[in-house]
Amino acid sequence: MDISELKLIPLFSELKESDLEQIAKMTVRQVYKKDNMVLIEEEVGSTMFVILNGRVKISRISDEGREVILSILVDGDFFGEMSILDGQTRSANAVTLEDTELLIIRRENFLQILHSYPQVAINLLKELAHRLRRSDAQIKSLSLQNALGKVGSTLLRIADDSGIIKQGKVEISQLPPQQDLANMAGTSRETISRVIKSLGQLGYVKKEGSKLIILDYERFRQDFS
Ligand code: CMP
Repeated sequence: MDISELKLIPLFSELKESDLEQIAKMTVRQVYKKDNMVLIEEEVGSTMFVILNGRVKISRISDEGREVILSILVDGDFFGEMSILDGQTRSANAVTLEDTELLIIRRENFLQILHSYPQVAINLLKELAHRLRRSDAQIKSLSLQNALGKVGSTLLRIADDSGIIKQGKVEISQLPPQQDLANMAGTSRETISRVIKSLGQLGYVKKEGSKLIILDYERFRQDFS
C-alpha cells in the first residue's frame, strides 16, 4: 500500500507519514468488478471499506421491493463503519457501479486505529454529521409534494457530493441513470425526465449528454435546499 494514496483519503489526511505506514499495515486492497454486491443489508459485518477509486451505491429495498438509493459514494469515501461501531447488522446494501478498488479494514484494526489516532475519529464524526445532514435533507425532500422540489433537491445533493464548482456553476460530470435518480428522489423515471426538461426551460440547468450543469448554484441552493 502506497502511503501517498492513503494521504488522499480524507479520513487519514492529517496523519504523519509514520502513522500512515502503521495504518497501511492494517489494510488490504482489493478490486471489485462492476455490479459486485460488497455488502448485503441485514448481514453480520466485520470489515469496513474505503474507496480508493470507483463508485459504490448505498441502497435499501423497501417492503414493496422498490430500491431507495441513500447515497452514491466516490473516491476517498468510506462505508461499512456502522456495523463495526454499533455491532448491529449491515444497515444497507453496497454495490459497485463500476470496477472499484477498495481498501478493506477489519473491525479490530479499525477500532485500534480510532484508539491510536484521535484525528481519525474526529474525521469520522465529521463525515457522520455530514451524512446525517444529508439524510435530513433527503427526508425533507421525500416529504415534498411537488416533483420539481423532489428532483431539484436530489440534484442539489448530488452536486454537493460530487459536483465541481466553477465560476458560480456546478458541473456534475456523470449524472446517475434516470432510474437511479428516481430511486434517490422517491419518484418515477418519467417524472425525472420531465422535471429535468422543465429545470432546463426554467434556466436552472443545462444537460450535455450524461453531464449536467447547474447554471447558478446559489440560486439553485436557495430554491431547492
Ligand atoms: P454498515 O451498516 O456497516 O453497512 C452499510 C453501510 O452503508 C453503512 O455501514 C454505511 O457505511 C453506509 N450507509 C448507510 N446509510 C448511509 C447513508 N444515508 N449515507 C451514506 N452511507 C450510508
